[in-house]
Amino acid sequence: MNIKNISLIGFMGSGKSTIGNMLSKELKMLFIDIDRIIEISENKIIKDIFEAEGEKYFRNLESEVIKKIYSNKNCIFACGGGVVERVENMSIIKSSSTIVYLHISAHESYERLKFTKDRPLLEGKDRKKIIERLMKKRDVLYNKYADIKVDTMDMSNEKIIKNIMVKLGI
Ligand code: S3P
Repeated sequence: MNIKNISLIGFMGSGKSTIGNMLSKELKMLFIDIDRIIEISENKIIKDIFEAEGEKYFRNLESEVIKKIYSNKNCIFACGGGVVERVENMSIIKSSSTIVYLHISAHESYERLKFTKDRPLLEGKDRKKIIERLMKKRDVLYNKYADIKVDTMDMSNEKIIKNIMVKLGI
């Protein structure tokens, strides 16, 4: 099938990598996880990049990868949760893909991520508050850039994939 690139955006824990992987098999498109590309290019996991170089360095890497990788066609991209915070990222992503917002509530994100050690932005005294604060800022942006929005709560991955395909008219 030869359809336009698809980008999955959404908050941490919304399932962008899992859904992206499954959807790519269903649609026979190449799956590209932007965080994994960053990790390979730096030979370090995200957490260690944040620890060693800080968030700004990571954001710059993320923007560089986006600039290069969106010249590919027929791909499904999983974007990091913070991708919407830079207009330059989103103008590239918007012009070269259909954007799918995988929606999750702050409460559900917290439930999924309360024990994780691999999300550097969530390290701090009150993880629930951190998630709520970030979500408040970002949900507006996810909605603004999305071509379609799909709920991911109380739904099997298969149902989520089906909903995406229906909304995309595939
Ligand atoms: C981030 C989300 C992470 C990763 C990095 C920053 C964010 O990706 O890019 O830790 O700013 O929300 P996931 O959304 O895949 O967890």
